[in-house]
Amino acid sequence: MQTLAGKKILLGIGGGIAAYKCADLTRRLIERGAEVQVVMTKAAKEFITPLTMQAVSGKPVSDSLLDPAAEASMGHIELAKWADLILIAPATADLIARIASGMGNDLLTTLVLASDAPIAVSPAMNQQMYRNQATQENIATLQRRGMHIWGPASGEQACGDIGPGRMLEPMQLVEECEQFWADKPLKGLSVLITAGPTRESIDPVRYISNHSSGKMGFALAQAAVQLGASTNLVAGPVSLDTPVGANRIDVASALEMYNTVMQYAPSHDIFISCAAVADYRPESIAEQKIKKKDGNEHMTITMVKNPDIVASVANMTDARPYTVGFAAETQDVAHYARSKLSNKNLDMICANDVSIEGQGFNSNNNAVTLYWKEGEQSLTLASKQKIAQQILMCIAEKISS
Ligand code: C5P
Repeated sequence: MQTLAGKKILLGIGGGIAAYKCADLTRRLIERGAEVQVVMTKAAKEFITPLTMQAVSGKPVSDSLLDPAAEASMGHIELAKWADLILIAPATADLIARIASGMGNDLLTTLVLASDAPIAVSPAMNQQMYRNQATQENIATLQRRGMHIWGPASGEQACGDIGPGRMLEPMQLVEECEQFWADKPLKGLSVLITAGPTRESIDPVRYISNHSSGKMGFALAQAAVQLGASTNLVAGPVSLDTPVGANRIDVASALEMYNTVMQYAPSHDIFISCAAVADYRPESIAEQKIKKKDGNEHMTITMVKNPDIVASVANMTDARPYTVGFAAETQDVAHYARSKLSNKNLDMICANDVSIEGQGFNSNNNAVTLYWKEGEQSLTLASKQKIAQQILMCIAEKISS
């Protein structure tokens, strides 16, 4: 399990409540073979003690720019040169703002300026502070400068609010570090992914849609970025954060999704159709809100078929990407998946049994079987992120062979 053997990680701890997780994070990094040198801001020391961090890292903690004794042992420039990666976690709104503006008013921000090591920032703050335009612009600035932004996660916060701003859990940060140094099998390739439901309008205020959460498609986009691909995500209406590093194009109806995909597909190496595209749409959209009429116990909406997006891409004659579909089945999964694979002319299909509780639609987990012409591979129940990585690894293997 020495996945991080010999890696020198400079862990910069900012002053947020999530700082208490840094002891566990340090232990887990060290377990995997990394060397961890901790640097703390003044505020961080209010949340976790340097003594704790020294005990878990096995190294004295650096926390001052102006300490002659510390400068005499490993000075700040030496420290900046030592790191293979600077991981800043938790990165508070204030710390992010100081880094974005190029300040060097403490040891950590000075190291950021003085180091040419890659820098990963794991934001952690109240959801309103995270959503604040100033913070968003600062994060965008760091991204533009090539820094990696890991997280934040969404959920319940220490202050009681619910929303984005939770620091990633220690194990998730460890996985990010592992991914960072892992081979990037999709480097140089472009991936186009559809995700979420589509919305088929009936009149200006009503539509027909489905329960797709978009989580699987978004996890695929995140994994594609992590594996080195340039990633475009065509998203139906969902309330999910855009995976960091992916370019998102929002659409509503199946026709809009079709037009966008047909425009983008020829310039991509891989197309993954994960969206739950409505098979039919109302033949016409009423210009005004449809009124109920006394005495009318029934109303009829005539529906017409939507184009099959994945089949249209799979049957392109020019610049056809490697094309992957999804199949949600409730019975006889292998049979239906294989017939879709051949009827739609796909290269691969990811099939899941949606009759099993705890996987597929709206769940955070999934279990799928991948089918291609000459073979198949089962991926057992795991988080959608894990499943997404495995699907993309399998695709990478297929297109390189
Ligand atoms: O035929 P079925 O809807 O079960 O096929 C599912 C696969 O086809 C998924 O990959 C889905 O994204 C894709 N699909 C599509 N366009 C449609 C219907 C389905 O791309 N109109």
